[in-house]
Amino acid sequence: PMYKSLFGLSELGEKIKRHYGLKQVAVVPGDSEASIVSKRELGKAACHVLRGELRSNDVVAITGGTTMAQVASQLTTGTAMKDVWFVPARGGLGESLDYQANTLASMMAKRIGGQYRMLHVPDHLGEEAFASLMQEPNIREIVDVIRSARIVVHGIGDAMVMARRRKLEQGAVQEMTAEGALAEAFGFYFDRNGSVVHKMQTVGLRLEDIANTELVIAVAGGKNKGEAIAAIMRFGQDDVLVTDEAAALEIVELI
Ligand code: F6P
Repeated sequence: PMYKSLFGLSELGEKIKRHYGLKQVAVVPGDSEASIVSKRELGKAACHVLRGELRSNDVVAITGGTTMAQVASQLTTGTAMKDVWFVPARGGLGESLDYQANTLASMMAKRIGGQYRMLHVPDHLGEEAFASLMQEPNIREIVDVIRSARIVVHGIGDAMVMARRRKLEQGAVQEMTAEGALAEAFGFYFDRNGSVVHKMQTVGLRLEDIANTELVIAVAGGKNKGEAIAAIMRFGQDDVLVTDEAAALEIVELI
């Protein structure tokens, strides 16, 4: 479908950028949920932003998802970047292998001639398992690398869509709904004000690590994600938003 907006794409981006105090907003045409062409464009635009920011010795933590898969599969570079590292932002969150963060981190590293490390543990663990895993030197080492990331590139999802995709227990879903969960990012769930609902221990990036990350890049589009994206922008840790026209129109409506 064609979206006839009153604003040009750059004007839409400018409005969002100003309202949320972002460093940069890129808006691609169309609705990436309805059109694979648009989703590919979204991925390509995010690659462009990321390439412009990459430096020697960077650690880039990424999340999974079908949007991030479009970023990973299109990343290119002129010259190999041997000392750039890609790592998953979180442990396993029970998603399909094709678009797990581990898979995408290795894909991105290979595409630009860089390095990657994987984290082969489930993210949500009981306290005892968590404590003993964190004492494993191999795991501790990669967790420390993840938490030192200078750049985070992440997707955004609707809370209920993500809860279903991860096959969360009914009880947990009900609790989250009661707490107003609306958006999901970095493995955390957020309400419409961008407050985290349901805090939990994680082997990967914690909220404080995200707050300390120099450059946080969100990549998400589609009309149905507009509210979720706005909620994550209210969380306030993103520096760059790469989105599409359909989501941007929704986000502007909510301003
Ligand atoms: O599970 C990883 C993740 O990045 C989530 O944090 C996010 O909500 C979701 O994927 C986005 O997935 P998609 O791009 O497929 O909508």
